[in-house]
Amino acid sequence: MPKTTSPSRYTITAALPYTNGPIHIGHLAGVYVPADIYSRYLRLKGQDVAFICGSDEHGVAIPMKAKKEGVSPKEIIDKYHGIIKKSFAEFGISFDNYSRTSAKVHHQTASDFFKKLYEQDDFIEEETEQLFDEEAQQFLADRFVVGTCPRCGHEEAYGDQCENCGSSLNATDLINPKSTITGGVPVLKKTKHWFLPLDRYEDFLKEWILEGHKSDWKPNVYGQCKSWIDDGLKPRAVTRDLDWGIPVPVEGGEGKVLYVWFDAPIGYISSTKEWAEREGKDWKSYWMDKDTKLVHFIGKDNIVFHCIIFPSMLKAHGDFVLPENVPANEFLNLEGNKLSTSKNWAVWLHEYLEEFPDMQDVLRYALTANAPETKDNDFTWKDFQARNNNELVAIFGNFVNRVAVLTHKYYNGVVPTPNTFTDLDKQTLQALKGFPEILSNSLERYRFREGSQELMNLARLGNKYLADEEPWKLIKTDEERVKTIMYVALQIATGLAILSEPFLPFTSDKLKKILRVVQNDKNEVISNESEKSIGWSNMSSEETLLPAGHTINQSELLFRKIEDAEIQQQLDKLEATKKVNAQMDKAVTPEKDTITFDDFTKLDMRVGTIVEAEKMPKANKLLVLKVDTGLDTRTIVSGIAESFKPEDIVGKKVTVLVNLAPRKLRGVESQGMILMTENQEGKLVFVNPDEDGVGNGEGIS
Ligand code: MF3
Ligand code: ZN
Repeated sequence: MPKTTSPSRYTITAALPYTNGPIHIGHLAGVYVPADIYSRYLRLKGQDVAFICGSDEHGVAIPMKAKKEGVSPKEIIDKYHGIIKKSFAEFGISFDNYSRTSAKVHHQTASDFFKKLYEQDDFIEEETEQLFDEEAQQFLADRFVVGTCPRCGHEEAYGDQCENCGSSLNATDLINPKSTITGGVPVLKKTKHWFLPLDRYEDFLKEWILEGHKSDWKPNVYGQCKSWIDDGLKPRAVTRDLDWGIPVPVEGGEGKVLYVWFDAPIGYISSTKEWAEREGKDWKSYWMDKDTKLVHFIGKDNIVFHCIIFPSMLKAHGDFVLPENVPANEFLNLEGNKLSTSKNWAVWLHEYLEEFPDMQDVLRYALTANAPETKDNDFTWKDFQARNNNELVAIFGNFVNRVAVLTHKYYNGVVPTPNTFTDLDKQTLQALKGFPEILSNSLERYRFREGSQELMNLARLGNKYLADEEPWKLIKTDEERVKTIMYVALQIATGLAILSEPFLPFTSDKLKKILRVVQNDKNEVISNESEKSIGWSNMSSEETLLPAGHTINQSELLFRKIEDAEIQQQLDKLEATKKVNAQMDKAVTPEKDTITFDDFTKLDMRVGTIVEAEKMPKANKLLVLKVDTGLDTRTIVSGIAESFKPEDIVGKKVTVLVNLAPRKLRGVESQGMILMTENQEGKLVFVNPDEDGVGNGEGIS
């Protein structure tokens, strides 16, 4: 009998993404796929789940980007909110609500939260000296200022955080601070702010995290919290001198806004409210009922905010539950390099779908099987291809396809009545029944990677069973035995349909359609004449998942092979990105020291024509040229052999520095230098005065 425990209530949050760019595989792997697997799993178990997210629209990078592009911040957030929301929906991220922090309900909720803490005297109000950019007439905090990290010496730490060592910083902690708006050195100027005195919560945090969650939080999360608490907590400013954000709702707050990290996590609450309002639920039970389990899915750079600061805010407020767990992931890299929005080093979800239409589950699977759960991990296109071709296609897809095709071929799609089960049949059916629990064990400990492999193990079990029993051979000699084999295989296929749902929701749906089963999350078996209904929890207790006599639909391909050429195309695309980046890095190499006009007039540059060209023997890079300079025809050795073939450049007009002191290269005296530059693709090209009427010997001025 299925256990009839009453459902538990879960509030599951996934970090609110900043709306200053689209979503890439790093976001998906680190936060949204695991959060989705967990939420889907709990729903299948019949739990009461609110899976909550939304856009974080007050990040300081947003007005910065708007300024750069000459548009309003609102245009930026509207654009990316739309793109991000769509990507999530397309990848089957099953949020119960996706809100945004520009929503009215959020402004109200965050304002009220601040006011309550203010009225309870939970803040320190203080006038302090903050960094100020005189040219931009703006106070600098967070991403508006970079400098050297006082903890690890990293030279590009931000005013709120060092991405190298993960320390959270105050802008005034930075050594050699520089404004990211103007590049200037800021001055100190007085301004008033409200601070959350984290030191007041030290005892609470020690007891709650260090003593209470030592064994159930992930070591990386626990470790970061411990080092924070051990270092001693200091008051943190929760307001800013900016004009983008939620206005500080108390006296003296004019012209100031709430710190984005104060308002954003409150967004989880506002989004829950929005959902509850729409669905006719009581939002309070999801945040204030002490039995509710609050779980935050985040990336590792968000740990301090979700484990130290937000819980201190919730504690100060007084009415809220605290997170039961914060299963933060490490980072995902792409082909050996850090993912980066600004460097376009990413696989963007909207682009992926254009190139691999309808293959959401493949990416979900590859990212889960290789999830950065305990350490940073690398996404490679080769691994993606291998996960698809060797696992999804060769094992999962192959097994299901054989089962469905053979069932139609032998029995017109009707599940056959089995005869006597052999020991192997019994063991196989028994093993199948053990899978829900195996998967639950992984998922409830947030081991999604392990879970995905266990799911694949079930497909392996089926695949191996068929390969060993070979019904396609036996059908000629022992039709009765084949009935039993196909019956067993059909049970495994049904198990896969049910258990794959959290990981591969699109595939699970297709497979359920093929088998004509429905999954229900109430743990009850609804008998319906044409479709069989099965839940996760009763799967182990049911004698039969797919009864004899049940008719299935025609097979449909679940996965397709990915060809080498498709992978190469992705790798080429990344190569091109690398080149563009290298080009941009060059473009910003600083200008050389100023020279005087006299210095310049010392250079004698003339237009010349290449009259002969040949490779320098045993040198890869050098060409030996004869150039008519109008003064003479001279020999010039030039390091351009990798960009030009000798025969292609004879007759070319070039610019020559004729009075450069001669020097010997590989024994050949070079009497001058040809001016070169690089084009967009990083290829060398001549500085070429190829204009009508320009004659050899003309100087350049
Ligand atoms: N926008 C933040 C980021 O991308 C995450 C915000 S999570 C929340 O790093 F708690 F503040 F909502
Ligand atoms: Zn650092």
